[in-house]
Amino acid sequence: MNKLDTSLVTAALKDAGCVLTDSVKQADAVLINTCSVREHAEQRVISHLGRLKHIRKTRPELIVAVIGCMAQRLGAELLERHNVDLVCGPAQIPQITQLLQDARKTKQKIIAVTEKIRKNPESTALEEFESIHSAADRAVPGQAFVRVMRGCDNFCSYCIVPYVRGPEISRPPNAVIDQIKKLAQTGVKLVTLLGQRVNAYCYVAGEKTCCLADLLEMASRIDAIKWIRFVTSYPSETFFHPILRAMRDLPKVCPYLHIPAQSGADRILKAMNRRYTAAQYLHMLARAREIVPGLEIAGDFIVGFPGETDQDFDATVELVKKARYKNAFIFKYSPRPVTHAERNLADNVPVDVKKQRNIELLAVQERISGALARKFLNKRLTVLVEGLSKKPHLNRSEEPESPQLLGRTEHDWIVVFNGPEELTGSFAEVKITNTTPLTLFGQLLPQG
Ligand code: 5AD
Ligand code: SF4
Repeated sequence: MNKLDTSLVTAALKDAGCVLTDSVKQADAVLINTCSVREHAEQRVISHLGRLKHIRKTRPELIVAVIGCMAQRLGAELLERHNVDLVCGPAQIPQITQLLQDARKTKQKIIAVTEKIRKNPESTALEEFESIHSAADRAVPGQAFVRVMRGCDNFCSYCIVPYVRGPEISRPPNAVIDQIKKLAQTGVKLVTLLGQRVNAYCYVAGEKTCCLADLLEMASRIDAIKWIRFVTSYPSETFFHPILRAMRDLPKVCPYLHIPAQSGADRILKAMNRRYTAAQYLHMLARAREIVPGLEIAGDFIVGFPGETDQDFDATVELVKKARYKNAFIFKYSPRPVTHAERNLADNVPVDVKKQRNIELLAVQERISGALARKFLNKRLTVLVEGLSKKPHLNRSEEPESPQLLGRTEHDWIVVFNGPEELTGSFAEVKITNTTPLTLFGQLLPQG
């Protein structure tokens, strides 16, 4: 969601005549897009603001803006304590160009956030903003994110999202499809549909209801779009089977499901307000794999949730072993202000224990990822090339003079191989010659 917001803001500013620069020294304004999901992300922003304070000693005219969830959460505190000029919440992003101009002209501090988050009256402005700017700027050539839902109503007890992003709203299907068509005209081949609980996508107009499976079907009909993904799914029966059938029957819908379990202990799942048991969750994965052959699944986990015992953690390890994820994102519990868990449950798992559980769970997952990766050895895979691989990987093969490229398969496996940079944004055929738990290595095959 944040990457999408960043690219929308970048596009809006470019349209207004602004020029992007990589260097703070050259900038007239610095915008920091922020996430509030864990404290660590917020701390990084605060230390970044500290560094900017120093720069402003010699360049007082520099405008510092904080946008996104942290802006919504902290509001005036950012202006008063961290020397920020402009604070703009997620719902006020459509006004960003005007707000920046006002901040420059008036030299006054400006705050634009939603007063009563449960109301969210700005969604029409968000709709317009999204449809105007979505096609203009993309971080990864050939790919784009498309929001299908805003906000979340789920209130998992640890999660700040419902408090900063407001209630769950599904965007009109025609707005989403028009946007994908525009993106397709600019060379986009892969769209990733975004929602905090994307399987719950449901737009009702009169007698008609459009769910995610319908949206996938409509998006599939756009010629230039070759792959369609959607994240993140919530483990509930809501539209689950129609979505899986769409994945099975529509060749463009990628066989990839990001479906976080968060914990493998029923006691903890209940305290997290996740409305399923470990057994129900595993049953869903089994059904999904039955319906969609070759499906790859990814998950998220929180370790060290209040009251998590060794036995609870063991249950999570067991679930990870049974789920056989392609990869899992593992986070240490971080109490977030105003959430149910922060207000009512003591953060009583010591930091060291959280760290240890994180390391242990990662190690279990790494063995599984390693085994799953090996099944691709000597296989031919189609890869959408993202560009030059940022860090050099170990496995430089026979052609050291050609650059190392990074791409992803339809199941989101990362593939690194040597090839010409011009392949960026297009599909390539690669034969896998080596694997590690997170990366497949291969050789570029002749096209066609
Ligand atoms: N502490 C740690 N991890 C969290 N997540 C969400 N809230 C918290 C929190 N308070 C994790 C969940 C979610 C992912 C996006 O971030 O695993 O799926
Ligand atoms: Fe947060 Fe739960 Fe909503 Fe995901 S589903 S954004 S974890 S409240």
